[in-house]
Amino acid sequence: MIENKIVEAIKKALIELDYPTDNISVVVSNRPELADYQYNGVFSLAKELHNNPIVIGEEITNKLNELNYNSFSKIEFAKPGFINFTLSNEFINEALNEMLSKPKFNINLDNKDTYVIDYGGPNIAKPLHVGHLRSAIIGESIKRILLYAGNKVISDVHLGDYGLQIGQVIYGLKKYNISIDNITLDILEKVYPEMSGLCKEDEEVKKICEQITKDLQDGNKEYNEYFKKIRDISGEDILRIYRFLDVNFDLWYGESDSYKYLDRVTDKLNEKGLLYDSQGAKVVDVKEDNDHNEMPPFIFQKSNGAYLYSSTDLATIEQRMEDYNPTHMLYVTDLRQHMHFESLFRVAKKMGYDISYEHLGYGTVNGVDGKPFKTRKGDAPKLDDLFKEVKESFLKSNSKNEEMSESDLDIITNAIIKYADLQNNREKDYIFDISKFSEIHGKTGPYLLYTYLRINKILNNEKLDIDSFNNDIYNAFDRDLRIKLLNLCNVFNNALNSRMPSVLGSYLFEVAMKASQFYEANRINGLEDKEKKDNWLLLLTLTNKVLKEMLNLLIIDIPTKM
Ligand code: ARG
Repeated sequence: MIENKIVEAIKKALIELDYPTDNISVVVSNRPELADYQYNGVFSLAKELHNNPIVIGEEITNKLNELNYNSFSKIEFAKPGFINFTLSNEFINEALNEMLSKPKFNINLDNKDTYVIDYGGPNIAKPLHVGHLRSAIIGESIKRILLYAGNKVISDVHLGDYGLQIGQVIYGLKKYNISIDNITLDILEKVYPEMSGLCKEDEEVKKICEQITKDLQDGNKEYNEYFKKIRDISGEDILRIYRFLDVNFDLWYGESDSYKYLDRVTDKLNEKGLLYDSQGAKVVDVKEDNDHNEMPPFIFQKSNGAYLYSSTDLATIEQRMEDYNPTHMLYVTDLRQHMHFESLFRVAKKMGYDISYEHLGYGTVNGVDGKPFKTRKGDAPKLDDLFKEVKESFLKSNSKNEEMSESDLDIITNAIIKYADLQNNREKDYIFDISKFSEIHGKTGPYLLYTYLRINKILNNEKLDIDSFNNDIYNAFDRDLRIKLLNLCNVFNNALNSRMPSVLGSYLFEVAMKASQFYEANRINGLEDKEKKDNWLLLLTLTNKVLKEMLNLLIIDIPTKM
């Protein structure tokens, strides 16, 4: 990685000066017109040495220059305490050649942990909504990034299949005398909202629905037959949507699958003396001394004996530990579930499963009016309607788009939706402005794909005769693109460590911009100078390889043409 090499150079200088050498790091310069990378460590070093940062900074800079690294064309001190590095052509090209020759662009692949990642989390019998879309997209992307880095990753959809909605739907089906054989998706989609509304008005009905849910969980035969049918029909629809999105799971477990682990969990909690009675319910204390906020006990079992979301999540940890013994467990849900997971993780640790747990939360998708996103059709935005609306908006944005094939249009629809989401820090709410994100210009999925295809066109009829760069860099556009590509390793690591696909998302936009500035400023196809032409073709080849592989980590495919 390019950063490591700069760090090595600084280290050498510090050793010569007899200065401490721990925690050296460099970052991409925030003033690209002045330098490529910068070292910000002068302040803390000066503090440690009880000396003036300007004195220390100039001393280190002089030493760096004296050691005469041919890696840099310029090393400068900038007041009040930065050291700026401009890379030499040789150094840039050597690093690019490593990207070309090593697998996966020379990204560090020594990650050998085992992750279980839990995302998607749709609830059967309820239509999927945009919140679930975020979980699916962000989760799948994080999974792909973890896998790319070399980890073992098991993905689990964790279906919401044992909650009150099932009791409500069974109640509704029985009320309308719909037999198991006659249940269809349409019926489910009508019955659920109706019954859920009814429960809000009628306390009696709600009680009955809760009882049905509890009986189902306790093994009532008739209800379980309803349940299986509902799960099949609903599951098929969920699968269809995930297929469209290219979101894939290793495990299709649901809350209901964790029930067989509940007894064992109960025993473990009792053995450790963690479970106690609170107004008839069985709970575990999770408060810690330095909590700033109220931390209510973790409810394991309700007073009527029923289990809840929290209990099935705990039982699922038991199951995952037994089956996969992971080092990390990740959950991708709405930020509002933060407290639930914090509490769950504490209980799991107390139970003896002291691994790394992370709740990866995300914000709300808003419409242009700033309110939670709705399709034109109405309040519960169904994903099918959303997909349709996006596709129509793309078609409308340019009359030529009509000529595209159905499968290419599906790819673009995906790119629009996914890039709209994955370019934002996942913890933030974002505004899904369909017409803006369907444009081929600006920070959009179509722009990235269009750039890729334009580059492909330049490369298509040319024969590339080299597989490494020579020592030249021909102009500023060329140089900017090369430097941008060199940032990849660092960007990837940041995305990986922060679990933020948006880091990669924003970077790809910058790559695409630098690449289009480069090919617009430089005519490549007709170029006479063979050596220059080959180097530029190679540069664009590397650019497109980066774009394609990294877009794949954002679950974005490339259409055949646009
Ligand atoms: N079904 C849940 C919901 O709709 C999400 C499940 C997330 N995963 C978990 N293990 N709790 O909110």
